[in-house]
Amino acid sequence: MRIISLLAFGICLIFLHGCHGHRKLSEGEILEQKVDSILTLMTLEEKIGQLNMLSGQGELTGPVTDGHSYIDAIKQGRLGALLNVNGVAYTRRIQEMTLQESRLGIPMLFGYDIIHGYKTIFPIPLAEACSWDLEAIEKSARIAADEASAAGQHWTFAPMVDIARDPRWGRIMEGAGEDTWLGSLIAAARVKGFQGDDLSAPNTIAACAKHYAAYGAAEGGRDYNTTDMSERTLREVYLPPFKAAADAGSATFMVAFNEINGVPASANPLLKYILRNEWNYNGMIVSDWNSINEMIAHGFAANSQEAAIFAMRSGVDLDMQGHVYAEVLYDLVKKGKIPVWQIDNAVKNILRLKFQLGLFDDPYRYCNSEREATSILTPENRKAAREIARKSMVLLKNENHLLPSGKTVRTLAVIGPLADDDENILGGWKALGDPDEAVSLIRGIRETVDPKTKILYEAGCNINDDDRSGFSKAVAEARKADVVILAVGESAAMSGEARSRADLGLPGVQHELVKEVFKEGKPVVLVLMNGRQLAIPWEAQNIPAILEAWLPGTEAGHAIADVIFGDYNPSGKLVVSFPRSTGQVPVYYNHKSTGRPADPEKRFTSKYIDIPIEPLYPFGYGLSYTSFMYSHMELSSDTITMSDSLEVGIRVTNIGNYKGEEVVQLYICDHVASVTRPVMELKDFKKIELDSAETVRISFMLTPKHLAFYDQNMQFITEPGVFSVMVGTNSVNYTGKKFTLVP
Ligand code: BGC
Repeated sequence: MRIISLLAFGICLIFLHGCHGHRKLSEGEILEQKVDSILTLMTLEEKIGQLNMLSGQGELTGPVTDGHSYIDAIKQGRLGALLNVNGVAYTRRIQEMTLQESRLGIPMLFGYDIIHGYKTIFPIPLAEACSWDLEAIEKSARIAADEASAAGQHWTFAPMVDIARDPRWGRIMEGAGEDTWLGSLIAAARVKGFQGDDLSAPNTIAACAKHYAAYGAAEGGRDYNTTDMSERTLREVYLPPFKAAADAGSATFMVAFNEINGVPASANPLLKYILRNEWNYNGMIVSDWNSINEMIAHGFAANSQEAAIFAMRSGVDLDMQGHVYAEVLYDLVKKGKIPVWQIDNAVKNILRLKFQLGLFDDPYRYCNSEREATSILTPENRKAAREIARKSMVLLKNENHLLPSGKTVRTLAVIGPLADDDENILGGWKALGDPDEAVSLIRGIRETVDPKTKILYEAGCNINDDDRSGFSKAVAEARKADVVILAVGESAAMSGEARSRADLGLPGVQHELVKEVFKEGKPVVLVLMNGRQLAIPWEAQNIPAILEAWLPGTEAGHAIADVIFGDYNPSGKLVVSFPRSTGQVPVYYNHKSTGRPADPEKRFTSKYIDIPIEPLYPFGYGLSYTSFMYSHMELSSDTITMSDSLEVGIRVTNIGNYKGEEVVQLYICDHVASVTRPVMELKDFKKIELDSAETVRISFMLTPKHLAFYDQNMQFITEPGVFSVMVGTNSVNYTGKKFTLVP
């Protein structure tokens, strides 16, 4: 009991000063020796205990295996990690129990879903991605880590780096959208934000890149559903954000629930052959909730013994809430069905993480009640949440410059089921986000407009039922108003895990409410709050101003009011394409050409007969209160060799009346290749800020590496040929030029 702290400390000291022959040991070697020094003390039961993670209180996101009190498991040294326990007082109690009552006192690891904030809730990740502001995204993760670590947490199950092209899939809200290149940058930024430069610092936490892999490609957008795709699509579209997270040092990875090409992710060769062998990833791999057991339901494992064998063999180190390792590994080892080295490797990965977090030096490092009392939900954190929330919003339409609205409107009608909401605005996975601390839209408006402005309010309807009884009151208020702000969308519970939708329209009777209010002929500003892109063709056609606010978090109302009343000039750009109808899904910008590219005039081309082929709003799209003009695009050459780089220059001028930010986007197209390439692919961008009438010249450096792809032999190569490079304000409006890459 407790010997571990002493022993480990003693042994570690020896190693710290240790030499290997005459050579001084590297930090990594010392760490390995520390890990080994603990491993040698452990019984097989204790080793298996380290591979077991159970859930404490908090939201349970899957079936609970009955009859396993984690308290007993802790005392018996049969538990390595806990999720869903919170707060310094409780985590300290658990840690004390672990250290004092288990034989070896190996510190407990605490993990939690800190997806977009801990207590200060930031916009949902999909929204944050629309800021295209990597620094702000990193900062959001940094603050989340700072708050969570002040409350006893060591490890977040984030970032989710799954590419998602299907908005029916509710978990699209947790990721960075449809683009692989941008998604990879954001994955790295989030990992850096959570982990900082030093995992052992008391204000950083371990990240977890999830869900490896291809979870976002679930058939029909139905959560947990089957994924089947070519190795090419996997490598080109779905894997790069994971690689980026691994390269950024993500301390852990989580496997997905789905099967990929017939093999569940918990046993998929992707783990061993790509993650471990190809990328040399040596972090810790955790299952998803019960995902090892679920290989039985998949029809892949006959029983839990087989499931455990497959998962161990594939390198899944920690069993989240499945209790299958705890139940079957001991016998399997004794019967020779699982070699001890496999167990040892898994244990080492977990111990290494505990060392890296500094838990062996000070198991209470993250249990600081003073920090917990003073550094959570601070005014600075709220300010940061407000800043990124407004950067995340996308102005979809603004006819006749209806926005920004003046603050001295005489009468303002604020209508809609999300207008006075302080709960849904926090979004799914809100950790400890508290509605009492959140700013509703109407509150934000009240605090922003002139005190003399008369504000009328009616919900009009609920988010998702068919009760129209509130319509008449809402319409009556709209009639009295000079401007109507109409807040509609989804509840927080309509996106996230197990929240797939088959209809992407506004839920319930909200679309009817919008139409009724619109009939009054007043200027209507539609504020959308939702966890995924919606199909809103009628609104796009008829409503003069539409702001996509997403689910903006704790500071929602302030941030939306900042945008509506012009204290912030919107700059967000879509990271997902908005469909015209659910039937158009999947619709994404970087599709292939086909042999019969869509032509509305020609019958036998790849299109729909009832709706256009183009999305309602394209990838990269978003308006500002000002306008930007692109001119003088120039390439440093029209021919480059494999060892050259190409300078792409363009001038951008703010030709409107407001200072504003613009995301200048660079796309390429490889016209002819040995494997067909997408019609366009994002390869770079710059977010700039320009005063009215200001011009800057933007310069991008394109290298042959940007043009590379997997050939027919799955070699990552660059092929000579003719390319286009396009620079513009979104994936539809751009200026393009051609160049040739010669051998
Ligand atoms: C989800 C994970 C999450 C875990 C723990 C699972 O159901 O798929 O993303 O981290 O639960 O809450």
